[in-house]
Amino acid sequence: EPAEVPVITIDGPTASGKGTLAAEVAAALGYALLDSGALYRATGIAATWDGVSPDDETALAALAERLDLRFGDGADAGRTWLRGRDITDELRLETSGLMASRVSVWPAVRAALHALQQSFRRAPGLVADGRDMGTVIFPDAPLKVFLTASAAQRAERRYKQLISKGISANIDDLRADLEARDMRDRSRSVSPLKPAEDALELDNSALSIDDSVAQVLDWWRQRRPFG
Ligand code: DC
Repeated sequence: EPAEVPVITIDGPTASGKGTLAAEVAAALGYALLDSGALYRATGIAATWDGVSPDDETALAALAERLDLRFGDGADAGRTWLRGRDITDELRLETSGLMASRVSVWPAVRAALHALQQSFRRAPGLVADGRDMGTVIFPDAPLKVFLTASAAQRAERRYKQLISKGISANIDDLRADLEARDMRDRSRSVSPLKPAEDALELDNSALSIDDSVAQVLDWWRQRRPFG
């Protein structure tokens, strides 16, 4: 019964480090990983390919409903294909994140991706990161983390990430972009970004990745339902 498979949800704003934290916690526990943002990003990419407007809710929902997305495993871990095309690099672009933020405001798009997200729940467990994992998709998760970091910290991390990839960037522009995206994610009427009532907040502004992973694993030792 999927409901008995434990889930750890990690929600939070753009560039808070959710993805890295979720991946490391999943690896430490041998659990599956759901990067829910990738589904919204892929929907946005499919829309761009098909010339569908980010304002066309019905057409976007139809794309999300038959999203032909594949996540690699084993030697292909970390790679992603959409309609058989490798979109691993495109998925991480700022433009894909912005497009995802736009398509994700539509209730029909969110509904179309609901069952797909829940299908990632498989034994022995799942770590899911996004905006509404604890509030909407896995409300029964025994551990819900709401991850935050200051906008200045998040902009700086994103800046370093881009520079290390040889991509030029302006830190003030990055901060303005991520604050605009946060605002849209928090203020949308359906499944806005907000902590679940039973979420534990983790501000990682001054924490290393290892410290954050250790904190979540510690919480999990206290909260996991069995064993
Ligand atoms: O986590 P991310 O940066 O990959 O997410 C990209 C956008 O997708 C984010 O700005 C809002 C949307 N999103 C969402 O609405 N719900 C989720 N569970 C995950 C992402």
